[in-house]
Amino acid sequence: MSAQPNNIPTHVAVIMDGNGRWARRQGKARHTGHRAGVKSVRATVEAAAERGVSYLTLFAFSSENWRRPEEEVSSLMSLFVEALRREVAELHRNNVRLRFVGALEQLSGGLQKKMAEAEKTTAGNSGLVLNVAVAFGGRWDIVKAAQSLASKSAAGKLDASDIDEDMFADELQLAGIPDPDLLIRTGGEQRISNFLLWNLAYAELWFTDVLWPEFDKTEFDRALAYFASKQRRYGHTGDQVEAAEC
Ligand code: FPP
Repeated sequence: MSAQPNNIPTHVAVIMDGNGRWARRQGKARHTGHRAGVKSVRATVEAAAERGVSYLTLFAFSSENWRRPEEEVSSLMSLFVEALRREVAELHRNNVRLRFVGALEQLSGGLQKKMAEAEKTTAGNSGLVLNVAVAFGGRWDIVKAAQSLASKSAAGKLDASDIDEDMFADELQLAGIPDPDLLIRTGGEQRISNFLLWNLAYAELWFTDVLWPEFDKTEFDRALAYFASKQRRYGHTGDQVEAAEC
């Protein structure tokens, strides 16, 4: 929620859309687009770290993406394994802390192991926190939180009437992390697509027609400039916000 000096968002969330269309435009198979998307992931991580963003959360694979053709799902999973093998050392050198959120138990044992290793390797880093959402859905996250609170209540550990927003947020995958200040979505669509439904409540939303494989630092800076131009009111009036800033 808090903005940093020069109005840099503390937490940026990204829906990386348009890989398939990018590939089609080149007359290539969809997986070529996902592969090209890794370069944009690298550029975005670098840009976020350089600009002083503290948390970056990328939507890499949604709960609904399992519905894609088996061949595409399997090439995406292979790409994740390969990206982890290639990128973790560099991320570690750059003091980035990696975290994976989502229904990770749905992933192959090999991928889960690589993710756990990457988290362990980078756990002590103090720079950018990079959350990668895989097999993630905003509704799934909320339902899981509700289940956890209901179990605690049934076990007599908690009175249902004591449940408040903070307690609920503490059960979500991004517990302990400030909500995204800015959501970037590439690929021309203007929707949330079951991403961080709870956490995006007050995010500024920035959409671009640029397809994910063509997203770069210049585009990231455009999104930051848009964010810097917004007055965040959280229900207050503009006059109240200006008075508090004086
Ligand atoms: C959406 O584009 C993109 C995805 C479902 C996959 C995102 C994955 C990557 C960018 C690969 C690398 C990620 C990491 C974290 C290493 P789309 O396929 O829906 O595009 P379309 O709308 O043009 O079909």
